[in-house]
Parts: sequence; C-alpha cells; structure tokens
Amino acid sequence: MKNSDQWSSKIGFILAAAGSAIGLGAIWKFPYMAGTNGGGVFFLLFILFTILIGTPIMLAEFVIGRRGGADAVTSYRVLAPSSPWPFVGYFGTLVSLIILSFYSVVGGWILSYLIRSLTGGLTGMSQAEYGALFENIISRPWEVLFTQGIFMIMTVLVVKGGIKAGIERASKFMMPALFVLFLVLVVRSLTLEGAMDGVRFLLQPDWSYLTAETALLALGQAFFALSVGISVMVTYSSYLPKTENMPNSAFSVASLNIFISLLAGLVIFPSVFALGFQPDVGPGLVFVVIPAVFNEIAFGGLFLTIFLVLLLFATLTSAFSILEIIVAVMEKGNEQKRSRYAWFAGILVFVVGIPSALSFGVLTDFQIIGKSFFDFADFITSNIGLPVGALLISIFTGYVLKKSAVKEELQRGSGMSDGLFQVLYLLIRYIVPLAIIAVFLNSFGIL
Ligand code: ALA
Repeated sequence: MKNSDQWSSKIGFILAAAGSAIGLGAIWKFPYMAGTNGGGVFFLLFILFTILIGTPIMLAEFVIGRRGGADAVTSYRVLAPSSPWPFVGYFGTLVSLIILSFYSVVGGWILSYLIRSLTGGLTGMSQAEYGALFENIISRPWEVLFTQGIFMIMTVLVVKGGIKAGIERASKFMMPALFVLFLVLVVRSLTLEGAMDGVRFLLQPDWSYLTAETALLALGQAFFALSVGISVMVTYSSYLPKTENMPNSAFSVASLNIFISLLAGLVIFPSVFALGFQPDVGPGLVFVVIPAVFNEIAFGGLFLTIFLVLLLFATLTSAFSILEIIVAVMEKGNEQKRSRYAWFAGILVFVVGIPSALSFGVLTDFQIIGKSFFDFADFITSNIGLPVGALLISIFTGYVLKKSAVKEELQRGSGMSDGLFQVLYLLIRYIVPLAIIAVFLNSFGIL
C-alpha cells in the first residue's frame, strides 16, 4: 500500500483504530480474565494501566507512524537511520503473527456458534448444556480448523483490498450496532434476580487479589485490548493526514475500549451470579454465558444471531489490523504484491495457529510451562511480547526521537497545550518504562 493511500475521513481513522482496538480483548478476554483474577481489582488495574500506560503508548505509536510515514519496520528506519531500532517493528510483526494465530481460533469459535444459531441450535438449553456445547465445539479438530481457516480467509479478503476499500468501509456501521445490542443485554442482565452480586464482583475490589501476577495480567490485558506494543498503530497512523487530531483519537479509542469492557462485564457477571455459572471458568465464559442470557429475552434466538454477527465483525476488524501490519512489513510499498503477501501471511498465521486450535481437543495433554498451547501463545504475547514492545516504543519515543519532534507531532492538528504535552512526555519518558519494568520484576519475584 502506498502511504498516499490515506484514510478518506477523520471519522474513518477513529473508527478503524477503534475497530482495531475493540474486539475480543474487551468482549471475550476481559470478562474471563477478570473472572479468574478477582473481578474488581483486575478491572481497576486494567483502567489505570489503560489510561496511564496504554494510551501514552498508543500516542507514541501514532507519532512514530505519522512521522515515519511507512510500515512498522520502515518507520523506525526513517526516524533512526542505521540503528537497530527497526527491530522493534520486526518484533511487533512477530508478536502480531502469534496473536492472530490464536485470535483466529476464537474467531472460528464465533463462526461455529453463528452457524448453530442460524439453525436454531443454541436456544432453550440448560446452563449445563451450554457448558457442554462449548466443550464439544472446541474439542472437535476438523470443526475448529475449518472455522479458523474460514475466519482467516475472510480477513485476507479484506486486507488484500487496501485500507479504503476494505477496513474503513467495514468499520463504519458495525461498531455502533454492536454497542446498541450490548446495551440491551446489559439491561436484561442487570434485571435478573441476584444480578447485584455480579455487579459487586466487578466493581467492588477484593484486595486479597492484588498480587504481582494480577498486575502483570492486567497490564497485558490493557495492551492487548488497545492493540498497542506491536506497532499496529504505527502502521495505521502512517496513512494519517497531517491534520488529524491524534490525542483526541487516542483518548476516544481508550475510553471507548474501557466502556465496552465495562459493558461486557455488566452483561457477563450479573448473569453469571444470577443464572448460577462460575466466573472463573476461563476462555469459555462468554461463549457459555451469553447464549444463556439471550435465552432470558423475548426473540432471544434472533437477537443472539445478530449479536454473533456483530461480534464476528468486531473480531474481524481487529484481525484486519493485525494482519495489516504483517502484510505492510512484507509489501514495503510494493502494491502489486499486496494480494500475494496477504494470502501468504494469512496461510502462515493459520499454520502457526493449528496447535492453538487443537489445544482443547487432540492436544489437550500437550503443555508448555503448565499451559495449553493456546494459553501459552496468549501468555507470551499478551504478558511478555506486548509489554516488552511497549517498553521499547516508550524508550524510542522518549529518548531517541527529539522532544521537539514528538511535541510537533502531538500538537499538530490538535492544538494540545504545552502543559498537557509535558504531562504526556513525562509519562512516555519515565512513568511508562518504569511501571512496565516494575510490574515485570515484581511478577518474576525480583522486586
Ligand atoms: N485489540 C484487539 C482486541 O482487543 C486485539 O480484540
């Protein structure tokens, strides 16, 4: 893609960046991570990390992308010629590839649910039956591989079309629709008998859960949900016009992300407590609880189908952005080869994802450091890859780029005050790297 291939409108970029950020991270991963890590404390840490660490990193990526004006690797090369910094772009590309490898597996689960909901196979079940259905689906090797493959084909078909033709058009109507349906679900969930126990679980911190591990997981969740640390936003913002108000976009995306996570929590936890589920069942939480909530709604089957379509879109918009970074790095401005690279990257992601797809069936017994392959891929990317990437990006922006250049980029199109810039710069230069290092050392028992 040429860098002249810019976003067609301001709102197009915000929607696409929000589309990249908001996906399974807020809707699927947040509830189950909060559910297994004490609810309120995890949520609080997640909000803190999103605002104080994730958002400055997103802005740093915007600065690098717009100033560098190229893909994730080349942008670093342009800004720091003859230095090892392009490594950060390669690192982000590798982490992106691994993230998409298990992300596409979950995308496949959504497809499996969608197919069943279209044939009426998801309504009128008992709580136990919903649990059994999820176990059944994820353990069927051919089904998970087939749906993961279909999900990747859909992703490739959009990404190979370029940003204007594909990503932007797709982002425009799906997110608002998902949002409205979520509000309906929140209302239903909150009016179930016993719902308040779930609200307390999510919003009232139980401090005994405040551990180094919870902090690391919440940090990883903040990065994952914002899509930062892997230079995805470097790639996206390289297509940005100079007039774009980047701080505004970053704050909008971050607040929207926190808000959707809150909504997801307010759908899941009240229902978990009211309908007799357990909050700490892991990756299946949303898949088991959501159909059960729709069961409590008139025309639930129909709404569930609509919900799954929208969830699939939200998942796809995130997947587009992750595949985009890989394709942009391969293509390096050579548009003719875009289609070929998109297919190549898509197939590579699929192949790398095979062990994750089979983690809950034929490869159940295959464990790495006590985790299934799926959990391991998630752990090394979310909790190690993203924080390391974010640390390097903050050092690059805070110490390698000139302060005047960062200031110029952040103020251009936004009119950001000098005072606010100073606060942000302080965060990027000192607070973000120190906080990431502290969380790391702490979780490895060194601090
Ligand atoms: N930020 C993307 C998501 O949350 C990866 O789905």
